[in-house]
Amino acid sequence: MMRSLPYFCRGEVVRGFGRGSKELGIPTANFPDSVVDQLPADIGTGIYYGWASLGNGNVHKMVMSIGWNPYYKNTKKSMETHVIHAFKEDFYGQVLSVVLVGYIRPEQNYSSLDALTAAINSDIEEAQRRLDLPEHQMLKEDNFFTGSPKRIMNGH
Ligand SMILES: Cc1cc2nc3c(=O)[nH]c(=O)nc-3n(C[C@H](O)[C@H](O)[C@H](O)COP(=O)(O)O)c2cc1C
Repeated sequence: MMRSLPYFCRGEVVRGFGRGSKELGIPTANFPDSVVDQLPADIGTGIYYGWASLGNGNVHKMVMSIGWNPYYKNTKKSMETHVIHAFKEDFYGQVLSVVLVGYIRPEQNYSSLDALTAAINSDIEEAQRRLDLPEHQMLKEDNFFTGSPKRIMNGH
């Protein structure tokens, strides 16, 4: 189905619409258009799970929303990563490296912010469960994450 998975990409964290942490309590890091525009055609909009690291740091579980956020009716396609880890500071300007491992569900519109938040929290649980499978540990240890973060590389 999605032949491009696992998909590796990295880029600088740019400012998004800024609703992530304020309204939802779930901070997300946005990639610049250059990264979004390079996504292969078979990686459609929707919610994905995988691994992420900032700079040359530790590798954490992540969930990513790719698309237009129907709830907010965005006009620009975005890739928003929620790294499943409690960071002390914002990471704007840092290099975020991610590998998309699998697909969870399509993007949806929700009737309330509470419903959207509940959906994202259940995505996080789903990602936690799936990434614990032994077959996904190898990707966590991939040298993509230990190499120099200065090299911007998208794709395999
Ligand atoms: C795991 C995950 C799932 C999401 N699912 C949806 C969704 O189904 N529908 C939607 O409109 N937005 C969805 N979003 C996007 C949120 O609406 C978005 O993170 C929020 O608008 C904050 O974005 P901002 O910080 O760029 O403003 C999802 C985000 C994440 C991290």
